[in-house]
Amino acid sequence: MSFLRLNGIHTFIEQFHILQGVTIDVPEGSIVALLGRNGAGKTTTLKTILGLHPARDGSVTYEGADITHRRSFDIAAMGIGYVPEHRAIFADLSVAENLRIAERRKGDFAAKADFIFGLFPDLERLIDLPGTNLSGGQQQMLAVARAMVPDNRLLLIDEPSEGLAPVLIEQMIEAIRELSSHTTVLLVEQNFIVASHLASQYVIIEEGQSVKCGAMADLVDDRDTIDRYLGTG
Ligand SMILES: Nc1ncnc2c1ncn2[C@@H]1O[C@H](COP(=O)(O)OP(=O)(O)O)[C@@H](O)[C@H]1O
Ligand SMILES: [Mg+2]
Repeated sequence: MSFLRLNGIHTFIEQFHILQGVTIDVPEGSIVALLGRNGAGKTTTLKTILGLHPARDGSVTYEGADITHRRSFDIAAMGIGYVPEHRAIFADLSVAENLRIAERRKGDFAAKADFIFGLFPDLERLIDLPGTNLSGGQQQMLAVARAMVPDNRLLLIDEPSEGLAPVLIEQMIEAIRELSSHTTVLLVEQNFIVASHLASQYVIIEEGQSVKCGAMADLVDDRDTIDRYLGTG
């Protein structure tokens, strides 16, 4: 049984038929990379899992439960965390406040603080600063850290390396690798190097359809597939 499985998902946003057959298997304890060009449907796939753009057809099962038509609130409460694109943190709140409001239960933050600050030492140093004073990279770290505060068993992470300087990309890779020892991860990445360092499995989406999946170790050597679907040189 899969930990998370999307089976033949079709999703509409308003009248637009965005996802047209997406099937993904995420085994427990793994990192699966969701790859594909800009506009392919990666973010929509994550939002479909979360019930933000519910599937019109197909199913999402999580730990054996059909969550296709559950409300986002209930889906999150089942232990699915989300790190959206573009560093969605609260600019007016301090680092500590950003982390504390992510609690699902009282004491979540205190229980995780050591682990989180071990992964992101910068955040501990900046704990009292408002989000707006953080660099782009630090905001991205905070966005990932925030999803680690509650007891999530699955994290959906959307483009964590986007816009980061190389040294911060390395730190982000290390942090995601570390957190994946506790949490299963579905990772959207445009940066193939990052995805290939982290994920054991991949799924490629093209124009709203999952077109290829398999072991990352095989994809790394598959120039044709990379050129055809990911367009990197
Ligand atoms: N709110 C929306 N209204 C209409 N079309 C949208 C909306 N959001 C996304 N889309 C379209 O859905 C497709 C997939 O988008 P998205 O899932 O964001 O792609 P990706 O994350 O792979 O870049 C794109 O063609 C995009 O233009
Ligand atoms: Mg996207």
